[in-house]
Amino acid sequence: MKNRYLERRNKLGSMLPKNSAVVIAGASTQYRNADSSHAFRQDSNFWYLSGFNEAESTLVLLVNEKNNVQSIAFVPEKDELKEIWDGYRAGPEGAMKDHGFDLAFNNTEIDHRLPDLLAGHNQVFYPVGKSKTLDADIIEWIKSTKSKDRHSSAIDIADASSKVGNQRLIKDEDEIKIMKKACQISAEAHVEAMKFVKPGMTEQEMEAFYQYEFSKRGGRFSAYTPIVAGGENACVLHYVENSKPLKDSELLLVDAGCEFELYASDITRTYPINGKFTSPQLAIYEVVLEAQLKSIEAISTNNNVMDAQIISEKVITQGLIDLGILKGSMEELHASGAFKDFYMHKIGHWLGIDVHDAGDYMEDGDYMNFKPGMVTTVEPGIYISSSAEVEDKWKGIGIRIEDDILVTAEGNENLTAFVPSDPKEIEALMA
Ligand code: GLY
Ligand code: MN
Ligand code: MN
Repeated sequence: MKNRYLERRNKLGSMLPKNSAVVIAGASTQYRNADSSHAFRQDSNFWYLSGFNEAESTLVLLVNEKNNVQSIAFVPEKDELKEIWDGYRAGPEGAMKDHGFDLAFNNTEIDHRLPDLLAGHNQVFYPVGKSKTLDADIIEWIKSTKSKDRHSSAIDIADASSKVGNQRLIKDEDEIKIMKKACQISAEAHVEAMKFVKPGMTEQEMEAFYQYEFSKRGGRFSAYTPIVAGGENACVLHYVENSKPLKDSELLLVDAGCEFELYASDITRTYPINGKFTSPQLAIYEVVLEAQLKSIEAISTNNNVMDAQIISEKVITQGLIDLGILKGSMEELHASGAFKDFYMHKIGHWLGIDVHDAGDYMEDGDYMNFKPGMVTTVEPGIYISSSAEVEDKWKGIGIRIEDDILVTAEGNENLTAFVPSDPKEIEALMA
């Protein structure tokens, strides 16, 4: 049977120097309070390369002089008593049988076994600086390897983050299928939410509604804490308080996406709480929508991430001039960055196992061109707080529109197009 994780381990090995090693630690159980644990979420790199979902595990890849990879897993030991309390454990035997590892050991044996496994390798790749414990462990394991053979050559430490991150940047067929499902679930939840919202409800009620709509479609967890922001709360970019009442004639900005099979989706829609945009709201909305649609058009293998960024900045600058909010010429106001008072974040980010996914944005000293298989968000916004020096009618309006875009050989595919962004379609849905 095809093992997508084994294929990824072999591919990583083919890109690394001969006689090198990779150490990727899995996630530990996290506690919300005392001994009450959060639901377990595996480390993203570990999941990408192993598909193994037990806490306190470590993956070691040994790359030989022919770039062949030996995969060794350290996993929780089989323990029938603990399994009664916490559920199934594969143990080393089950891990080898079901996950295609060449070797597997109890995780309690790692300090004893890893120094011998590292012997004869010139470099150890691991995510440098991600965990103080792993930083310290790596140094101890290397010291121990060296102490066993003083004549052996040095073992250098190298950062695995970019290597694995850039591998994760190009999604394979399996990943694209999972991401399409994650995106569709989230899009359907936004559609249902538009039909459900009414003045007098609370942000918290809407947050619960989204979580229910995600979960009943198979996306049990949110990929990130949802932002459910009524009225001016939308101007707080990372607003997660989600507790205030929703007022008639105000907008609701919801940035919410589910995680499905550990892959994220990330959608923002901004819609009128009573189902009808006011004319100042609509005027700002149309500027953001034009910026978003023109930026999406620029997501193709002919362009790089900065091309879409600049398009969004220029459309928003021109739109703010046309509405009398900025005064001057578009080129001058763009060059001076005047738009940043109202559009202060970037156009988007890579999307994958993490919502702000791994992978570089630069390549060979320049912005990275889009390549087929990448997934990026496109999410311009305009945020006008009540302290802004503008006419009163604009104050308190915060709007963002965000979709998830797959780069294809021909151009791109909007994976979240199921939820409307056109204001007329939104009003029709809400009527
Ligand atoms: N939801 C996180 C983001 O849009 O970046
Ligand atoms: Mn985003
Ligand atoms: Mn978002």
